[in-house]
Amino acid sequence: MDVEALVSKSGLIGRAGRLKAATQATHERLDRTILRRQPFASREAYGRLLDVQLRFHRELALFYRDPALRALIPGLESRQRFDLIARDRLDLGLGVPPAEDAAHGPVDVATGLGWLYVAEGSSLGAAFLLKEAATLGLSETFGARHLAAAPEGRGRHWKTFVAALDAADVAAEDEHRVVAGARDAFRSVHRHVVDLFG
Ligand code: HEM
Repeated sequence: MDVEALVSKSGLIGRAGRLKAATQATHERLDRTILRRQPFASREAYGRLLDVQLRFHRELALFYRDPALRALIPGLESRQRFDLIARDRLDLGLGVPPAEDAAHGPVDVATGLGWLYVAEGSSLGAAFLLKEAATLGLSETFGARHLAAAPEGRGRHWKTFVAALDAADVAAEDEHRVVAGARDAFRSVHRHVVDLFG
């Protein structure tokens, strides 16, 4: 049995911990893919990173507004960063392409929890990205608003989310879809990076 399966089976760590273990390699691959493209070399390159974020957060919108997910995660609506990303683009004189609002039915809650784990977790790593953005003269109030810490602090904001994620009632047979959702989310960001940076 591999480590991931072992910790998962032990039930000793929560869902967020298991997701971390299940996606660590994917996260590292994504970090490398992003950093190799030097998104902080110029404002133009950073603009492309904003485009990656915009696309990702567009995909996330259906999860942030889903009533079942909102019932599981208090304050879910206010966690959305799409508008901040759009404002960052406007700060840099870049446009915000209109959304193609695809119709969809209710989302799969298990899958949605996986996607939200990735979106919310990315706010933790954002502290590092914010420092890099500062070298381009950007900050929480100009161009890098979406990388700012939440008012209550990054750590607390994350802990509140993890508590809700861990407590969410998901049937054992659906648990694999939470992991699949998180992996899909990472893969999607990876695809956007390759699409936009080449
Ligand atoms: C070059 C880009 C990135 C770097 C250097 C980076 C770095 C980091 C760091 C240092 C942490 C741990 C923070 C802490 O524990 O205090 C973290 C957490 C995390 N990041 Fe990233 N990150 C990057 C991009 C991303 C992206 C694009 C995503 C997804 C869209 C992402 C998703 C996550 C997740 C889900 C976590 C939480 C892991 C956990 O504790 O469960 N990261 N990142």
